[in-house]
Amino acid sequence: MNCFIFITLLCIPPVFTPEQRTLIQSMANPTFELDTTNAYEQNEQAAKLGQQIFFDPQFSSNGEVSCATCHKPELYFTDGVAVSTGISAVTRNAPTVLNAAHQRWFFWDGRTDTLWGQPIQTFEHPAEMGGDRKDIATTMTSDPVYATLWEEVFGNTKNVPVSVTAANVAKCLAAYQTKLVALDSPFDRFALGDKNAMSESAQRGLQFFIGEGGCLRCHFGPWFTDGAFHTVGVGPLDGGALRDAGRFDAIAILQTAKFTAGSEESDDKLGTRAVISKHIARRREDWGAFRTPSLRNVAKTPPYMHAGQLASLEDVVEHYSTLENFVTADHHRETILVPLELDAQGKADLIAFLESLTGTLPPSHLLAPPK
Ligand code: HEC
Ligand code: HEC
Repeated sequence: MNCFIFITLLCIPPVFTPEQRTLIQSMANPTFELDTTNAYEQNEQAAKLGQQIFFDPQFSSNGEVSCATCHKPELYFTDGVAVSTGISAVTRNAPTVLNAAHQRWFFWDGRTDTLWGQPIQTFEHPAEMGGDRKDIATTMTSDPVYATLWEEVFGNTKNVPVSVTAANVAKCLAAYQTKLVALDSPFDRFALGDKNAMSESAQRGLQFFIGEGGCLRCHFGPWFTDGAFHTVGVGPLDGGALRDAGRFDAIAILQTAKFTAGSEESDDKLGTRAVISKHIARRREDWGAFRTPSLRNVAKTPPYMHAGQLASLEDVVEHYSTLENFVTADHHRETILVPLELDAQGKADLIAFLESLTGTLPPSHLLAPPK
């Protein structure tokens, strides 16, 4: 390719059509919906309690693991490794909890349907924290650090069932995490009219993302996700066959799980979330499917995919570009994906765009135990 064509094709900012501009604008500065299943979601004192618990290792069986062990504020609330280790190693990658409150389903397989449905599973998971809801409940009402604040928020709960106290602990953690927002990225500023907020390369990447790249089929809207479950063909770390059933097993778990939108402890037992969870049925194509992750702050949260199989954004883009080593459960292949065959410039542009989705961390008083 001669230099003139090179310059005209690649080195000028892309021109967005009016339709594309409207689309891009609609992807900026998202808002959160209230979680009606958690009456304490917006309660400041509950959030403070949640923040204290988040950084406190005393609820783990060895007294060393807290939520922040795997969700480190300085790593955008991830742990930087392929699969996490708490008490022992787990099999999945720790997603960020920044912006987590926007989600419809939680965990890579969506096995809980509310943000407060997550913590008790994690506290009691033998490999994660190996704790026990009874100990946590006892601490809340007897420990001097917690008891006063606890009573201010929940009143005297000495005689309420352990499950209610445990659910309230989980709701406090959700209230804290709901404050962990990282938006206002260069992309948002560009979308709202600041032409200089994104480099030309990132703008070309954006054009590819919303156009030819087909990324928008799954990563759409202001959270860059359809909230649904798909297979993109990245196999296990050890190169073997797929073993993690993902969404398929999760639907079975969801139907018997405690602390769901429809459970006794929910503050909106008959709401839409609860009704959907109750009636959801598993389908063959759910086997090996994982949730489309949001791409906000993605450049800050390597490694990637549900088991951290891909080390860098370069590796992710390479995967979508070639679909080499595509692994699939034999009865199902996502038909949407085709190899994109990107050249070096195309890859660099797409990565520059993904980097433009990095927002600012929440204020520093939320990044450590409360004072
Ligand atoms: C041992 C490391 C570890 C610890 C400790 C840990 N997490 Fe996680 N967290 C993970 C992993 C791994 C996942 C994904 C698991 C999966 O999808 O199956 C996860 C998922 C989550 C999610 C779901 C996010 C999403 O996008 O769906 C939230 C929220 C969360 N953790 C919050 C917490 C809180 C609160 C605590 C403390 C009670 C905690 N975590 C403790 C590793 C950990
Ligand atoms: C068929 C739906 C679908 C399409 C199309 C798609 N993705 Fe994904 N994407 C997913 C799912 C599902 C995952 C998680 C897969 C897993 O963990 O196994 C994912 C993961 C990712 C990740 C890793 C995020 C993380 O936190 O680990 C990035 C980056 C990404 N996709 C970017 C893109 C780009 C760029 C395109 C367009 C070239 C694209 N995706 C097209 C569904 C899709």
